[in-house]
Amino acid sequence: MRILSFVLTVMAAVGLRAETGYEAWLRYAETGGDRYGVLPAAVVTFGDSAVIQAAQQELIRGIRGMLGRTLRIETGPPQESAIVLGTFGAIGWTGELTEDGYWLKTATLNGHPCLVVTASNDRGVLYGVFALLRKIGLGESVSALDEKQVPYAPVRWVNEWDNLDGSIERGYGGPSIFFEKNDVRADLGRVRDYARMLASLGINGCTVNNVNANPRVITTGFLPQLARIAEVFRPWGVRLSVSIDFTSPKSIGGLETFDPLDARVAEWWKDKVDEIYRAIPDFGGFVLKADSEGRLGPSAYGRTHADAANMIARALKPHGGLIFYRGFVYDHHTDWRNLKNDRARAAYDNFHGLDGQFEDNAVIQIKNGPIDFQVREPASPLFGALERTNQAIELQITQEYFGQARHLVFLVPMWKEVLDFDMHAKGAGTPVKALVAGKTFHRPVGGFVGVSNVGRDGNWSGHHLSQANLYGFGRLAWNPNLSAKQIAEEWTRLTFGDDVRVVETIAAMQLQSWRTYENYTGPLGAQTLTEITGSHYGPAVEASERNGWGQWHRADEKGVGMDRTVATGTGFIGQYRPPVAKIYESLETCPDELLLWMHHVPYTYVLHSGKTVIQHIYDTHYQGAEEVEGFVRQWKSLQGRIDEQRYVEVLARLEYQAGHAQVWRDAVNTWFLHTSGIPDAKGRAGRFPSRREAEAMKLEGYQVVDVHPWEAASGSKAVQCASGSRPCSASFQYDGKPGWYDLSVQYFDQNNGVSRFRVFVGSQLVDEWAADDHLPASGINAHSSTRRKIAGLALRPGDQIRIEGAPDGRETAALDYVEIHPARN
Ligand code: GCU
Repeated sequence: MRILSFVLTVMAAVGLRAETGYEAWLRYAETGGDRYGVLPAAVVTFGDSAVIQAAQQELIRGIRGMLGRTLRIETGPPQESAIVLGTFGAIGWTGELTEDGYWLKTATLNGHPCLVVTASNDRGVLYGVFALLRKIGLGESVSALDEKQVPYAPVRWVNEWDNLDGSIERGYGGPSIFFEKNDVRADLGRVRDYARMLASLGINGCTVNNVNANPRVITTGFLPQLARIAEVFRPWGVRLSVSIDFTSPKSIGGLETFDPLDARVAEWWKDKVDEIYRAIPDFGGFVLKADSEGRLGPSAYGRTHADAANMIARALKPHGGLIFYRGFVYDHHTDWRNLKNDRARAAYDNFHGLDGQFEDNAVIQIKNGPIDFQVREPASPLFGALERTNQAIELQITQEYFGQARHLVFLVPMWKEVLDFDMHAKGAGTPVKALVAGKTFHRPVGGFVGVSNVGRDGNWSGHHLSQANLYGFGRLAWNPNLSAKQIAEEWTRLTFGDDVRVVETIAAMQLQSWRTYENYTGPLGAQTLTEITGSHYGPAVEASERNGWGQWHRADEKGVGMDRTVATGTGFIGQYRPPVAKIYESLETCPDELLLWMHHVPYTYVLHSGKTVIQHIYDTHYQGAEEVEGFVRQWKSLQGRIDEQRYVEVLARLEYQAGHAQVWRDAVNTWFLHTSGIPDAKGRAGRFPSRREAEAMKLEGYQVVDVHPWEAASGSKAVQCASGSRPCSASFQYDGKPGWYDLSVQYFDQNNGVSRFRVFVGSQLVDEWAADDHLPASGINAHSSTRRKIAGLALRPGDQIRIEGAPDGRETAALDYVEIHPARN
């Protein structure tokens, strides 16, 4: 029986062609097409714009892929049953829909039953085609359609933080698809395919360069290069925009000032904008980061953000362009000693007093939370404070503080919480989504911006399952009322196929993943406890403290959390409208998950859950790490049900994540154990009975080193081999019971060398590998800490276990510990 099921599994896997993930959710995999037998055989297209042509080609491509039929292209009034594409005007219908909305309608045209995809504008027709194809991909009926859909907000943009040299700030999916060696890439094939992905979600704008902008991007010489990107975007209805440097009039314009109130500066921007529109007539506008993190802005001349935004807005206005002025403005040299200082106050403090002073083509682009894409933040109070100013929410699709596409974290449930949060901006019933879409205060423009940062990796984002975040962002930007579950299931079906087990398993993993990540990283609103001045990746609990960056959690031996109350703290809570402020101000009503964001409490403080804060920290970190082990098991249950390439690649990521979740668990728990002095009631934190520290092994060549920060290594020490290229070894005698065991070697895989490891039991080589991952670390710390699991070893008391490490480059084949657990299988 076992053999039979093995054979069946292998056969199933063989039947699934390897997939790289490049096609994302637009694979158009073959479906059992029976129910689409009545679908017309022809496509009739009215209009010949590039967008309409793209819509027609996409329809043909999708139907061919999914149903194995090639639609015949016809022109003029339908002479047979057909799928008809065209705007209301082009097909001669009277109708009106919000821009970019679409109508899928079964109707009789010229006496023939037709399926009409129509809209007010060409882009709407394109979006309608993608919607129709999605329906077929999801197996929905298309036989009697009458479906009108309009986007929730006009702005549905992505930002790419690409540098002109081809690197990407906080990008985890390979180098830039746009730039290379300070020019636009010669081959823009990937840009075309990306624009198509964006269009499939209804995303209509893309800012192609880093918010920390290189002014060169708008120089006269560079514009023809930008125009090439715009040309590739155009058939997909995606408008190109760029991030600008506020000093441009001086740095590239030859003026001696960039003062926004200087007429010469305004003139310079006006001329520059006119020049850009001559090269790119459908240019979308600018994104501007000013007076933040060292970027210069209007404060250099004592001017306001409104002065700055408006001067540029006026240049863009005649062309229909927008300026997105980022609300992410703060001083990163704030005095940490002053307990009243609070970076979280910055966005509101900078902008709410200017409400009503911005031009109506200026949009304040506000990050979802008041700090910076942390694992848990409240909604930014600024959303509720602007009544006469356009706003957009900035969500981060790239997983900067979320495991950087090495950890599975589906962000849609988190985004949903923010979007649905009632700011009470005009009485009850004013969720963030309505505010940013301009619905609450009837603003002309507003919406959703996602920081995407896709790259040239085969699967765009670095992790096959991370693509769901881009998909989810787009779907929410179109309709924030969709549920996280619906989005997860849709994405999984389109990306991995219809197998119910596959869909249920992957969707469940996705839906759980944010809370799991929160469990093993930053508890109770204390934020992602990571190295905030560096990679933002692994644990470094104190990195946020005693510096001017203001991401403080203020943990000491007595307690933890930022007191942001009005009564005794920074007053941040007072930036919310009274009904919201009231909830956060009181310990009675403040939700546990934001407790440490809003309040400073002793470790023994009892949560609504009945647990003390410290026990909650211990428990959730153990729980989170176990949940990731569960993800590995869940994924393994899908072997043979999805193609081998994606199966293997995702499995490798999940196994890595399970190891790194333990690094997080141990670093955070040990840090709080030592700092609070309060033991884990369940006796786990700080006690590792199955662990053999490398520093306690018999060492040949290896030397013991202190690791910084101390919580980054077990026992705060590691061993490193500084012998040049000669291998070192660490060995110990196994003295447990005889049996089958899994052995995990915790080692450090830096990005500045490829060390080699070999493991022996007695004289027998049982495993060998190269430390060739590309983790964001050049030293021995919690970012480079990783593990190798050797499953199913038969061990007997007295066995000598020896690990041999051969250093390479500046990597020292460092080891932390070995753990031995009874074998799982
Ligand atoms: C974060 C991120 C930076 C980025 C900044 C921004 O701080 O780490 O890399 O430049 O956000 O949004 O401007």
